[in-house]
Amino acid sequence: MTLVTQAIGIDIGGTGIKGGLVDLERGELISDRVKRPTPEGGEPDAIMKVVTSILADLQEAADTAPIGVCFPAVVRDGHTMSAANVSKKWIGLAAERLFEQSLGHDITFVNDADAAGYAESEFGAAKDVDGLVIMTTLGTGIGSAIIYRNLLVPNAELGHIDIGEHADYEKYASNAVREAKDLSWKHWAARLKPYYETLERLFSPDLIIVGGGVSKHADEFLPLIDIATPLVPAVLRNNAGILGAAALAAHGAGARPTKGAEHLVRETNERAPSVSL
Ligand code: BGC
Repeated sequence: MTLVTQAIGIDIGGTGIKGGLVDLERGELISDRVKRPTPEGGEPDAIMKVVTSILADLQEAADTAPIGVCFPAVVRDGHTMSAANVSKKWIGLAAERLFEQSLGHDITFVNDADAAGYAESEFGAAKDVDGLVIMTTLGTGIGSAIIYRNLLVPNAELGHIDIGEHADYEKYASNAVREAKDLSWKHWAARLKPYYETLERLFSPDLIIVGGGVSKHADEFLPLIDIATPLVPAVLRNNAGILGAAALAAHGAGARPTKGAEHLVRETNERAPSVSL
């Protein structure tokens, strides 16, 4: 079996779409990080166009590499089943197939926080953690991934839990809310503390990882969130989605010695009912 050592990862977010060519041995980008803004409204056609243009740039570097794409929605059997921060037109769409048609290439298609969590378990803060890890991404929304002994349990949507009077907690505590309301680090941390306490109470994790672009400022707010579980910044910062999508694409191609989480994502996806958040 040939070992796939490079793959392309594309991370579609509520505000930006970014991609890069990844060295899977080192868990590092080996191309420029190509970034474009997410088109206003997050409509399928507009997003497909941006992804196609990013891929055109990257394929100059590697035209045979597997391609992984991650997206901010529940992804089941290649369909996007929710749309919290993009156009509602994504709900129920056969997105993986549409991307493949538009890109002219097979892809592996997964939730963005799952990709980020997978990357942290392969290359980052959750590597070799023998227990339950919850990865959270603080961005336009709050993304989450559950990883148990390096196996990803896909499509956890823990950003949408209700706490106290706050239904759908990401609308109260995401990084986009911090920016829009110009919250101080202290005030934001006061919103995040009950969130992480709730995850702690519900799941008894061994480690909680905090990712998203804002994790580069982790020193400003993580020490203010005093919980019993170790709470650490993502090692891969804002590249986790790209790295995880690429790694899942390579594992999906069956070219790694150990079975990747993409296998689990597929199996679980096949039997799932639809949800809309
Ligand atoms: C979506 C998740 C996504 C997260 C981060 C949430 O609003 O429901 O699927 O992972 O945002 O982008």
